[in-house]
Amino acid sequence: MNILLLGSGGREHAFAHSLSQSPLCEKLYIAPGNAGTALVGENLAFAATDFAAIKQCCLDKQISLVVVGPEDPLVKGIVDFFSQETTLSHIAIVGPTQRGANLEGSKEFAKEFMQRHQIPTARYASFTKETITEGLHFLETMQAPYVLKADGLAAGKGVVILENLQEAQAELKKMLLEEKFGNASQKVVIEEFLRGIELSCFVLTDGDSYLVLPTAKDYKRIGEGDTGLNTGGMGAVSPVPFADASFMKKIEDRIIKPTVEGLQKEKITYRGIIFIGLIKVGEDPYVIEYNVRMGDPETEVVLPRIQTDLVTLLEATAKGKLRNVSLSIDPRSATTVVVVSGGYPEEYQKGKVISGLDTQGESLVFHAGTIEKEGKILTSGGRVLAVTSLDNDFKEALKKSYQRIEKISFEGMYYRRDIGMDL
Ligand code: AMP
Ligand code: GLY
Repeated sequence: MNILLLGSGGREHAFAHSLSQSPLCEKLYIAPGNAGTALVGENLAFAATDFAAIKQCCLDKQISLVVVGPEDPLVKGIVDFFSQETTLSHIAIVGPTQRGANLEGSKEFAKEFMQRHQIPTARYASFTKETITEGLHFLETMQAPYVLKADGLAAGKGVVILENLQEAQAELKKMLLEEKFGNASQKVVIEEFLRGIELSCFVLTDGDSYLVLPTAKDYKRIGEGDTGLNTGGMGAVSPVPFADASFMKKIEDRIIKPTVEGLQKEKITYRGIIFIGLIKVGEDPYVIEYNVRMGDPETEVVLPRIQTDLVTLLEATAKGKLRNVSLSIDPRSATTVVVVSGGYPEEYQKGKVISGLDTQGESLVFHAGTIEKEGKILTSGGRVLAVTSLDNDFKEALKKSYQRIEKISFEGMYYRRDIGMDL
């Protein structure tokens, strides 16, 4: 079959890599893709949110399966668009409807959903411009640190954690009165700070049954020792050593089952991925957030461990036939180290020539912010590459990733040398 994959990051190169290895994949198209996806499929020059171009592509290229990488197209209703367009309604598309995508698109919706279905999460209240006085008082009743979340999508920047009450009150004013995050902060969720260790859990569901994919831990801060600004993610490992069988059972019983059943009870059509951001407080899991897509860079360690044919898995998800598929996982650990442009996540330069990409070796070098120009591969984003390795021992896998990175260079390149060291 012909497949269209939407997106352009390291996550999408990892998807493209696995999809292209399936005997079921005849032709793989990626829109807009990057220099890495171009090695395993054909890039098309339109945005992942350009519904008209996506429709035209599906018709011209006889696409049978659409895989959506990022959240934007889902929150904008691409799945509803496919079901409403008679020429597209036969095409399998992986992802929730717009109502389901609200689990990521609105923090308040997600919190209310968890409350309705008794899913453990931090206590919270939400406020708007009209109720700002209550919001300022509410902060006085909370203990530091203060967690403020813009309700809508804010490119991963909408969560602010502050130690000091006055700062938190000033931040609430900025978010609500000055719309610091635009429309996204017209509503703000204030919640209790949870102290613990984070992990990411991924679930494939067709709305009826579900499969739990491997867990991963992501390293979000730019600096070693988890210091400095938040980024999209600087590295990841899978599986997460502390997510043992008894902890996974708690996650499944208290969080995954009530989530899938909650979607059913609310008649929300959801045939896609649920990414549950979790925090382990003592011995108990709590939900930090839902996302409606895979994580990046978590995908770069989760997909290489999935031995079941990915096209079969995703097609079954989209067509409501997940019950017929079983999951086979590589028992080895996977690690990925993200290589970024100097300055990221603040200002950084683009267009730097990357060398050392063609060296052969067993590590997988996934491209994120790269572009091909006149036969050269140039940097085109903050996160540039994600280098993934597998081994029975995750420390050995990390060693392989770091050895592979030493052969790569571009001006200003930076990466964290302590991924996985805390485990
Ligand atoms: P999010 O954008 O929702 O993933 O939040 C970004 C980060 O903020 C998370 O990965 C956590 O590290 C942190 N965070 C969010 N909510 C809480 C909370 N209630 N308690 C502690 N940390 C939190
Ligand atoms: N790595 C976190 C995310 O994709 O949201």
